[in-house]
Amino acid sequence: MPFIIKNIADNIATITINRPEALNAMNLEVVGELHQAVNEAIANPTVGAIILTGAGDKSFVAGADIKAMSQMTKAEALKFGRAGHGLLNAIENAPKPVIAAINGFALGGGTEISLACHIRIATDNAIFGQPEVKLGLIPGWGGTQRLIRLIGKGKAVEMIAGGGIIKADEALRIGLVNAVVSPAELMTKAREIATRIVGNGPQAVRIALDCIRSGQDRSLTDGLEYELEAFANLFETAEMQEGTRAFVEKRPPEFRKD
Ligand code: CAA
Repeated sequence: MPFIIKNIADNIATITINRPEALNAMNLEVVGELHQAVNEAIANPTVGAIILTGAGDKSFVAGADIKAMSQMTKAEALKFGRAGHGLLNAIENAPKPVIAAINGFALGGGTEISLACHIRIATDNAIFGQPEVKLGLIPGWGGTQRLIRLIGKGKAVEMIAGGGIIKADEALRIGLVNAVVSPAELMTKAREIATRIVGNGPQAVRIALDCIRSGQDRSLTDGLEYELEAFANLFETAEMQEGTRAFVEKRPPEFRKD
């Protein structure tokens, strides 16, 4: 996997997109390798959270590979778009939280990848944008759908139709990212959040993510019913027994054996 660096430590998988000479722009090969790495981290039972970042100190992902796209036919663009959708859906539907550690440019597909992640932490020099219209294109990896759900229609239309950039402080203000830190603090902050997550009941985290995600496609009434059933189901699990017993016995719970 030349374009991906993988590391697993303390139940946290860190996946680094490694094409710094092109600011981590994504061609079909990079998309395929990242998808495989995400799938492996999802399948690994010792992994409780995933951090996604970009190699180098300049860029998270500067978007889809424009040089590659400039040569694509419509059929090839459809294949490329579907590969991107497949990757981003895998991230969004992951049963363990995926944290985007955004170290610089997150443009086009870079913003879109971050949108599919569950939590976004950015460096203070991070730059977001959906500049596709400047190329005669539109966001093709979910930007027209996920951005509106996160920051609302007005800001999403401004970003997508205007094609301008959003700096880290503005991204924080409009809720595009959870936190902004210095480049030196980025991975520490991402690991701090991931560490808190992996200390919790993995099954509870998975079910909570499922309720949050599926609630987006349901009415409030249906979503509440779905949550209630999931909540009640957990009362029959060893994990819930351990968590509540540990509280009563005034000790930390032991959720993980690995
Ligand atoms: N695709 C291909 N190569 C890219 C790239 C991209 N998206 N972004 C950067 N690169 C390459 C550059 O071509 C350059 O390589 P060469 O020297 O071999 O030409 C190298 O990365 C460094 O880039 P720059 O010299 O341009 O660096 P800079 O610091 O001057 O500028 C930048 C940085 C503002 C991010 C600029 O590179 C840029 O504007 N990149 C394109 C950003 C963009 O438009 N992204 C959206 C792509 S469309 C998309 O993503 C569609 C979708 O929804 C899926």
